Amino acid sequence: MKVLVLGGDGFCGWPASLHLSDRGDAVTIVDNFSRRRIDEELGAQSLTPIRSMVERRAAWKELSGKQIDVVELDVAQDYQGLKELLDEVRPDAIVHYAEQRAAPYSMKSAKHKRYTIDNNVNATHNVLCAIVDSGQDIHLVHLGTMGVYGYGTAGMAIPEGYLEVRIPVTTDAVVETEILYPTNPGSIYHMTKVLDQSMFAYYAKNDELRITDLHQGIVWGTNTIQTNLDERLINRFDYDGDYGTVLNRFLMQAAVGYPLTVHGTGGQTRAFIHIQDMVRCVAIALDNPPQVGERVKIFNQMTETHRVRDLANLVASITGASVEMVPDPRKEAQENELLVNNDNFLGLGLEPITLNEGLLREINETAAKYADRADHSRIPARSVWTAAQQAGVPASVEDH
Ligand SMILES: NC(=O)c1ccc[n+]([C@@H]2O[C@H](COP(=O)([O-])OP(=O)(O)OC[C@H]3O[C@@H](n4cnc5c(N)ncnc54)[C@H](O)[C@@H]3O)[C@@H](O)[C@H]2O)c1
Repeated sequence: MKVLVLGGDGFCGWPASLHLSDRGDAVTIVDNFSRRRIDEELGAQSLTPIRSMVERRAAWKELSGKQIDVVELDVAQDYQGLKELLDEVRPDAIVHYAEQRAAPYSMKSAKHKRYTIDNNVNATHNVLCAIVDSGQDIHLVHLGTMGVYGYGTAGMAIPEGYLEVRIPVTTDAVVETEILYPTNPGSIYHMTKVLDQSMFAYYAKNDELRITDLHQGIVWGTNTIQTNLDERLINRFDYDGDYGTVLNRFLMQAAVGYPLTVHGTGGQTRAFIHIQDMVRCVAIALDNPPQVGERVKIFNQMTETHRVRDLANLVASITGASVEMVPDPRKEAQENELLVNNDNFLGLGLEPITLNEGLLREINETAAKYADRADHSRIPARSVWTAAQQAGVPASVEDH
């Protein structure tokens, strides 16, 4: 299969590109390298020493004999370039990772909010519009987030994208239908994924594009079978207050002797998936596209849920690290239950890697190995969600 991987230099896109190339897909990475520039803006570096794209590609060619093509292009801004690329490559599928993906970064300032909306919404719309414009039948696989559902307590298992509803219209008549699960984004970043979802529904209906939207949990772990082959292929590991995701932050904090910082009560429950499972899921999604004219296929791409304070205690019990409760910089429910249906991927053969199996290896092989590269001043999460919080008043959370 010929696959374009948009955002293929990133944390998810790079290991996915290698996984697809390894199984025989012809991969072209498209990236504008904005994530590397944001590292410079934030004065933060990946804990792992990631190599330039030139070195990454050469190492992969040397080890596997396989070629990955790379095109530097801004998907959000260079519509003509994107359209010409589709005409030239004629891909069977596009995997779309090319968005600004950090909620804290999206909330830093008006400039960061506007950049995140502009980049993510335009990138997704340009891809959809270019597929139609090209006249080709290209399956689009998009990486969305579990955060589109919101992080309240649903009181039921969250279905995969669509909710069955029964509306009594008169005393003896009921309308039964299926709707997109109501959205409840918790940040500007999450809101862009909600907007993406509406654009997908429209283009699937109007232009009969074949689209799969993966509502992904928080990805943990660093390396996959392919990135482990050689240090030059190593994947990114973000630990800073903006881009570091909760479990990887705890692993790194434990490794460098920094207290595990739990926001608020730590009662926030989130969905997780190991990075190896993430790349497998993307391959499964590529192999099981929707039919032309079918509605958007939505999969919940997660394998387990955990409460943040339980994760901190688990990592502390393995490593001896201490746990520190700090004020929550976000405006979010402090305690929530999260039950999620993920039958689609399980039914298609995914055998999940659990936290219990992978955690210790991750601490030893990555967090501890590169601990001396950590800049402790970059660890605290400083981006707050509201002007009141900026002024030192804790966020009200009743409405979440
Ligand atoms: N990392 C997670 O835990 C996680 C969880 C859920 C969903 N996701 C989703 O997966 C996708 C990838 O996440 P990630 O963690 O790999 O992020 P990342 O920031 O590491 O990678 C994104 C890549 O896209 C590129 N990019 C951004 N805007 C672009 C543009 N306009 N044109 C071309 N390239 C552009 C960046 O340079 C970067 O290489 C995102 O859409 C994110 O929302 C990630």
